[in-house]
Amino acid sequence: MPAQTAPELIRYGEDQLDAIRPTLVALYGEVYEDQLSDPFFSIDRFTQRLNSHASRSGWEAVVAYDGGQAAGYAYAATLPEGSGWWRGMLDPLPEEEAREDGKRTLALFELMVRRPWRGTGLAERIHEELLRTRTEERVTLLVEPTHPKVQRLYESWGYENIGDQRPFADSPVYATMVRPLTANAA
Ligand SMILES: CC(C)(COP(=O)(O)OP(=O)(O)OC[C@H]1O[C@@H](n2cnc3c(N)ncnc32)[C@H](O)[C@@H]1OP(=O)(O)O)[C@@H](O)C(=O)NCCC(=O)NCCS
Repeated sequence: MPAQTAPELIRYGEDQLDAIRPTLVALYGEVYEDQLSDPFFSIDRFTQRLNSHASRSGWEAVVAYDGGQAAGYAYAATLPEGSGWWRGMLDPLPEEEAREDGKRTLALFELMVRRPWRGTGLAERIHEELLRTRTEERVTLLVEPTHPKVQRLYESWGYENIGDQRPFADSPVYATMVRPLTANAA
């Protein structure tokens, strides 16, 4: 149950993944419990994606702890030069929009909060803390169009839906959302 005081937010870099991997995987398993039988959402595939994302330069996670227990987290990494992030767009983007130079775009891969802490503003706090120190021009994330309320939530945080994409052959089609990060740019 949530404590009376606001959860504490802790930032981790790629060299700390081994220490926090069990926490990240356990929360994923709880939050995505109903979808774990779908191979794409299985714990194994999540762990593979996590390990792959965290091997990228600029990977960071922010984990919220409430009275010592993890309540939610987000993680993100910079898209590498020549990234295929935009390749799955059903309507291809103009070349200039899809160009990645290794420092232009932050990809937010995961954001999740355990049920008792939903609707408390914790997700927004985690999200803003993760973005606060970043120097990329823009941040992008994918959200299932079948979750319109989550999409509305991201729009209320400044994201715009720029079109659908299917990043992997066995993944759902996702709405691709983008928000400027210029306030942080050097
Ligand atoms: C997305 C999330 C971090 C937002 O947390 P929050 O800011 O506390 O917001 P809420 O949980 O109150 O969600 C906002 C609305 O979206 C709905 N929603 C949240 N996750 C949803 C999901 N996976 N599928 C469908 N609807 C969902 C909620 O029911 C809520 O609707 P309501 O206001 O009618 O109750 C949290 O809901 C979560 O962890 N969801 C599960 C994981 C997830 O879907 N992450 C996003 C991947 S892009």
